Amino acid sequence: MTRPTTPKTPRTFHVKSFGCQMNVYDGERMAEMLGAQGMTAAEDGLSADMVVLNTCHIREKAAEKVYSDIGRLRREDGSRPMIAVAGCVAQAEGPEITRRTKMVDIVVGPQAYHRLPELVDKAVRGEEALDTDMPAASKFGALPGRAKQPRPTAFLTVQEGCDKFCTYCVVPYTRGAEISRPWDAILDEAKALVDGGAKEITLLGQNVNAWGDDTGRGLHDLIRALDRVDGLQRIRYTTSHPNDMTDGLIAAHAEVEKLMPYLHLPVQSGSDPILKAMNRSHTRDSYLRLLDKVRTVRPDIALSGDFIVGFPGETDADFEATMSLIREVGYAYAFSFKYSPRPGTPAAEMANQIAPELMDERLKQLQTQITSDQLAFNQRTVGKSCPVLIEKAGRKPGQLVGKSPWLQSVHVYAEGAQIGDMVNVEIVSAGPNSLAGELVQQKEAA
Ligand code: SAH
Ligand code: SF4
Ligand code: F3S
Repeated sequence: MTRPTTPKTPRTFHVKSFGCQMNVYDGERMAEMLGAQGMTAAEDGLSADMVVLNTCHIREKAAEKVYSDIGRLRREDGSRPMIAVAGCVAQAEGPEITRRTKMVDIVVGPQAYHRLPELVDKAVRGEEALDTDMPAASKFGALPGRAKQPRPTAFLTVQEGCDKFCTYCVVPYTRGAEISRPWDAILDEAKALVDGGAKEITLLGQNVNAWGDDTGRGLHDLIRALDRVDGLQRIRYTTSHPNDMTDGLIAAHAEVEKLMPYLHLPVQSGSDPILKAMNRSHTRDSYLRLLDKVRTVRPDIALSGDFIVGFPGETDADFEATMSLIREVGYAYAFSFKYSPRPGTPAAEMANQIAPELMDERLKQLQTQITSDQLAFNQRTVGKSCPVLIEKAGRKPGQLVGKSPWLQSVHVYAEGAQIGDMVNVEIVSAGPNSLAGELVQQKEAA
C-alpha cells in the first residue's frame, strides 16, 4: 500500500455522495460530524487528506462506479488520500471491497457512520476499519446538531429502511428494516434547520410514507406539526410507496398550505403480471385509483414516478401496458431505468432475462413519451403566476434559478432578489426540463 504523503491524522476531508437523496443527507451529516471533530472541508478529493465515497448499490453501473472513482484518487506522485467507502456498496460488499482494492482504508455502512471518527483513528493506527453493523440504537442520537444551512432547501431523513422486498431491489438488504425516527427528534431537527436558514424541508425515507410512531401518528401528523413551525415555508416528502398512501396523507394535500403539490409515487410497471413478479403488492388499477383520489383533492398536483423496463419476462404486451399507464397518468416528471440484476435478489435468478438491446429500445420509447408529457405539463403553467423559492444563481449574468410549487426549475431575472427569497413569478415560457419567468412586481412597476 503506497501512501507516502497521507498525514497520520487527516485534517481535511471531502465527502462525495451518489444515489438517492437519503445518501445526500447522510453525506451532509458525515461532513458535519467531521467538521465537529475539527476537520475542514477540502475543495475536492485530490486535495483532501481524507475522502468519503458515499456509495449507491441500486444498479450495477452505480455500484461499479465506486472502483473507478477510487482509482481517480491516485495523485501524480503516487500518493492518495485516506479513503472511506460508505453507503450501500459498503453495506452490500463489506470486506470484499478491501479485498478487491488496496486503496480503501475504511468501510462503513449506512447505519454505522456515526462511528466514522473511531474508524479514522483505527485506520491511522493501521488496524482494520470496517463497520457494517445495523445497531438497534439509531445513529442519529450520536451525531452533532445540524449546522447552518448553505441552501434555503434542506433534507431531513425521518424514516429509513424497507420491508417491502421488491424482487429486484437491494435496499432492504443495504438499509435494513423499516424504522421511523422519533417525533421530537424530527421536530427539533426541523427547527434547527429553519434556524440555520432553511425555508423548505423535504422529509426523506426509503418509504417515507410508512413513517409512524407507537401513538398511532402517521406522516400526515408530522407534516401538520411542521406546518406550524414558524419560518418554514414549504414541505415536501419523498419517496412514497403506494401501499402506505393513507387517506390522512391524501387529505393533507388538500388542507396543509405549506405542503407542496407534488407527489413522487413510483409504480415501476403498468402490467399486473410484472407487478406481481416484482412483489409490488399493488396493481395497476389500485395505483391509478390512488392517483385519482389525490387528484380529486388536489387537481393541480404534479405527479412523478419511477419505471423499470426489461424486468425478467417482460413481454411486448407488458411493456405496452406500462406505456398506456404513462399516457393515462400524464406525469409531470419521471425516473426510468433499465432493469439491472442485483446479487442476492430473487429477480436476478429468474428465467427470461431481457436482452440489453430490447431494454434500450423500450427505455428510449418510454423516455420519449415522458419528455413529451413533461413538456405538456410545463406548458400548462405558462401564463400563470406562482411563488418561486430562489435557490441559486443562473448561468447568465443577473439570472436566478428557483423552484415552483410543482418542483419545476424556473429561470428568472429578478433584480434585487437573493438566494432564499420567495418571489412571485409569471411563467412566460416552458421547455421539458425548465420554465422561464418574470418577476410579477417588476412587471407591475414597468
Ligand atoms: N423506495 C423507493 C425507491 C427505491 S430505489 C421505491 O420503492 O420506490 C429508486 C428506484 O430505483 C426504484 O423506484 C426503481 O425504479 C429503481 N430500481 C431499484 N432497483 C432496481 C434494479 N435492480 N434495476 C433497475 N432499477 C432499479
Ligand atoms: Fe426497493 Fe421496493 Fe423497498 Fe422501494 S419499496 S426500496 S423499490 S424494495
Ligand atoms: Fe442507492 Fe442505497 Fe439510496 S442503494 S438509491 S444509496 S438507499
